[in-house]
Amino acid sequence: MKKFKNLFIYTVICASFALYSCEGPMGPAGKDGKDGVDANETCKLCHNPASVDLISAQYELSKHSYGEAATSEAGNTGCSPCHESEAFKYVCKNNVPSTFTKITGSYKYANDYASVATAAYGEITCSTCHSSLHTTYGASDVPALTTTAAVSMTFFGGAQAINLTQKGGEGNLCVKCHQPRPFTNARTGNVLNYDSLKTFPTAVLYDGNPAGTTNRIKPGYRTHTHYGTAGAIFAGKGGVEFGSGYSNSMHTTVASCQDCHMGDMNGKAGGHTFSAIGNFNGCNVTGCHGANPISSATTSKYWKQTRDNIKSLLDQLAVKLKVGGVEILNRNPDATSNLWVGLTTNNYDGYLNVYDPINNPNGLTNNTGGTFKAASTTGFSAAQITTNNSLPVLTLTNAQMGAIINFQLCLRDYSLGIHNTAYTTTLLTNTLAALP
Ligand code: HEC
Ligand code: HEC
Ligand code: HEC
Ligand code: HEC
Ligand code: HEC
Repeated sequence: MKKFKNLFIYTVICASFALYSCEGPMGPAGKDGKDGVDANETCKLCHNPASVDLISAQYELSKHSYGEAATSEAGNTGCSPCHESEAFKYVCKNNVPSTFTKITGSYKYANDYASVATAAYGEITCSTCHSSLHTTYGASDVPALTTTAAVSMTFFGGAQAINLTQKGGEGNLCVKCHQPRPFTNARTGNVLNYDSLKTFPTAVLYDGNPAGTTNRIKPGYRTHTHYGTAGAIFAGKGGVEFGSGYSNSMHTTVASCQDCHMGDMNGKAGGHTFSAIGNFNGCNVTGCHGANPISSATTSKYWKQTRDNIKSLLDQLAVKLKVGGVEILNRNPDATSNLWVGLTTNNYDGYLNVYDPINNPNGLTNNTGGTFKAASTTGFSAAQITTNNSLPVLTLTNAQMGAIINFQLCLRDYSLGIHNTAYTTTLLTNTLAALP
């Protein structure tokens, strides 16, 4: 239906250009003629089977297109900078800062990275990334991207930036949205400082009392770093960097998101699907992996071995993240609701084993009376399941919170270390060492 409508509009616009053309037998309107002919010609630069038509077909396979978040988050000024087309263009155009500012007359802080109610809508489409589309109707309209500028990180309250300069900064376009979201202080709403987590690892972050006034975080099922962690891990920024020895893989400075995610099509991946799943066309190009081409074979040095290693580190970290013998991380074997199913042995999804967000927002400790509320029964004894009173009290140290953040970052990066093997390996290894 939508297609037919577009075709109709297209035909009407083309027809009106033709109307003003001096080619036809139109007579007097000769003066404006030349533009008309050019315009018609430039339409074809893009509107042909090998360009826009083909790319639009690929784009239907992109989650940017078929995903539902743009519909569900419409109208929300805090979510829209990354989920809504108009809001994304708004924050780029107005250079909206990712700072947190103290609200006048209050001890509370506000997150400045937001759009406005009049621009918090629009599905992610061609003009989200190509905002110059149809401004001159010339060939330069489309390669132009909405932004390629360095990205001020929202989860650091703007204290750090990511700048992927390769390929003219095209990766910065992706990172602008594919970056984690900030954790905020439960009392003040200010951005959580990662430095304090690693500098004072044994300090108490959450004392188990939901009414406690000194707790900086009140853990709930959805205490998470959001979904778009790929950009941060790729750039080697964003972890709670316990210990030392951090470095980045070659990819960080040599490859761009587009190289691997927009390579030649293979199955449902490549081109404007933006997906890299099962597509090695972008990886196996001249000058990259030489004698060790990327493949899914069990012997593949860079693919299989890297991913097995990171999976094992994530598994080990999940085992260590326990309170009173109970796992802190949530398991979810359901492939439709867990986007990261299969990436760890126990199918963690990066949420916390504290159920459920609405009825039990304060965690296991608040389970007084009523039914058992943990998301999975794993790790609980039969007695604990029948009597809520015997549930262990969830408490968190700074080190545990840092470990939760790092686990979420590396799991939700999807690639199991392919984006940035060196950084991911050091981050997870040092996190394991930082936990008692
Ligand atoms: C630089 C490339 C480019 C040029 C030149 C260009 N277009 Fe487009 N046009 C696009 C893209 C990209 C889309 C979006 C396709 C989609 O949504 O799948 C589009 C969409 C359209 C649509 C559909 C609008 C809608 O609501 O979805 C019409 C109509 C249209 N173009 C007309 C024209 C006409 C007429 C010309 C020449 C005067 C022209 N275009 C020149 C790239 C171009
Ligand atoms: C305007 C913000 C925005 C920009 C710019 C953007 N993305 Fe996305 N991307 C999203 C959102 C939001 C989703 C999830 C949509 C949904 O689920 O409805 C997504 C989904 C994806 C997915 C699918 C992930 C999955 O869970 O299967 C891939 C792959 C992806 N983006 C890659 C890229 C690449 C590569 C670039 C740069 C060329 C890019 N994105 C630019 C916001 C953006
Ligand atoms: C800094 C950018 C950013 C902000 C702000 C943001 N998101 Fe997202 N969100 C993303 C990206 C990027 C993805 C997709 C990441 C991927 O799949 O790799 C995503 C994915 C999601 C998904 C998962 C969709 C799926 O595929 O299952 C939901 C739901 C979601 N966001 C809701 C929200 C809500 C609600 C807010 C506001 C409270 C919000 N987001 C704010 C960037 C953002
Ligand atoms: C998430 C951001 C994003 C969206 C959405 C997007 N593009 Fe692109 N597009 C890019 C990037 C990045 C490049 C540059 C690719 C490269 O350098 O290899 C590009 C390149 C192009 C090019 C020129 C190079 C080529 O592959 O021929 C065309 C034409 C194009 N896009 C059309 C479209 C159309 C049509 C749509 C909608 C159906 C669309 N784009 C949606 C990011 C996007
Ligand atoms: C060196 C190649 C490479 C580069 C460069 C790269 N990725 Fe990936 N990416 C991958 C691989 C491989 C996967 C995992 C695919 C799979 O699960 O089979 C992946 C997965 C993803 C996914 C989720 C799964 C999907 O649909 O592909 C997102 C989102 C993503 N990357 C975003 C990015 C962003 C944003 C950048 C740039 C900051 C980037 N990637 C740079 C190789 C790369």
